[in-house]
Amino acid sequence: MKLLEDIYLVGSGEFSISDAYDCHVYLIDGGEDAALIDCGVGRSPERICRNVEEHVPLERVSRILLTHLHADHCGGASYFQERGMGVWAPEKEVEAIKNRPEEALEAFRLAKNGGCYPEDYAFPFIREDGQITDGQKIRVGRYTLEAMHLRGHSEGLLVYLLDTGKRRILFSSDYVFYNGCIGLLNCPGSELSGFRRDIGRLAGLGVDVLLPGHRMLALDGGQSHIDRAAEHLSKAFVPPTF
Ligand SMILES: [Fe+2]
Repeated sequence: MKLLEDIYLVGSGEFSISDAYDCHVYLIDGGEDAALIDCGVGRSPERICRNVEEHVPLERVSRILLTHLHADHCGGASYFQERGMGVWAPEKEVEAIKNRPEEALEAFRLAKNGGCYPEDYAFPFIREDGQITDGQKIRVGRYTLEAMHLRGHSEGLLVYLLDTGKRRILFSSDYVFYNGCIGLLNCPGSELSGFRRDIGRLAGLGVDVLLPGHRMLALDGGQSHIDRAAEHLSKAFVPPTF
């Protein structure tokens, strides 16, 4: 589904274009190179491939840039690696799973209790091809994305900012959503204090387009949704969550 020039939605359970448990998966076409933001849960990744091929040849997609290692965002990693794509993961997220796998499994168990995954689905431990750190610039053909590590939803989550020259796009993953909701969860790795500390990093970015990991997208006025989240977090009450 074309969203903007060179930006496509190629996976999403909620928009019924791929597996029901998939997060939103975005394709950035930079011309000679293309990348995916996240890759879904891995139950029917071939549907994502078919959606990609409606817009660019699959061979053009050299990398998957993961935002975090919750299974609905990364479970398809090995499938895409077998097709020649490199999977890049947030450094701090990789560290957290390596050092405290029991916490990742506990978060997974709680998410499964919440209906986020089917009963017979096992936690995918991915093997990344590269790691991404806060502030890192990533070239995708004619575009450059900047990674930002924001605490609150999971330990190492990255959002990606892309300035196309025409629009400023924030791939906000599960950090901030339409209407100022935040991605606070009741599980290890998620904490409200992280949102309080880091939401300010998104202030004044002039985001036009907000492309989150779930729910509604904002193709204009993206910053207003971020600012609403920041306003919620400036008060003593738990903000609305996704
Ligand atoms: Fe998540």
